[in-house]
Amino acid sequence: MPTASPQLDVLYTREQIAERVAAMGAEISRDYHGQHIILVGVLKGAAIFLSDLARAVVPDCTFDFVAVSSYGRGQRSSGAVKVIKDLDHSIEGRHVILVEDILDTGLTLTYLRNMLLHQKPASLKIAALLDKPARRLQKIEADYVGFTLPNLFVVGYGMDYAERYRNLQEIRLMSPNDPE
Ligand code: PRP
Repeated sequence: MPTASPQLDVLYTREQIAERVAAMGAEISRDYHGQHIILVGVLKGAAIFLSDLARAVVPDCTFDFVAVSSYGRGQRSSGAVKVIKDLDHSIEGRHVILVEDILDTGLTLTYLRNMLLHQKPASLKIAALLDKPARRLQKIEADYVGFTLPNLFVVGYGMDYAERYRNLQEIRLMSPNDPE
């Protein structure tokens, strides 16, 4: 199997990721037995996680995607994010799971959760593959979490450094000494 960046240390292997995603899918399947769910992925980082999670979920589900960008580092702590792509379809009265690759400061998901709640979904939960609780600036937790980790910068499985490394099959560690 080709490996794009063997020099970056592996934090979670393909097998570890697959095992956790399968477990999250099983938990969601139990919770939503017999119901239709809408998985809302946050582009771009969550794209690969959503594609695997969707196939690990038994209930009938459809996808939608949102894309956001923060207004810049200086205003990051304000929690202001700019919606670049909104939902394609209304979620009113529907069961929705927001799907994120990483829950870090919580600013993005807090904003998105409030935005989606305005549409009055029947329910709204959050699935995050990675959770960094030590970084939180907003009080928000995911309902389904793959891995809880300390403040490490990770890439792969959808996550990037300057748009690179998203296609790595593993989750790998970037350190300040790594070449760009
Ligand atoms: C990452 C991640 C979340 C957000 C989490 O997105 O995908 O959306 O940051 O951070 P927060 O909890 O501090 O708000 P990023 O801005 O890197 O964009 P990307 O998904 O396109 O990689």
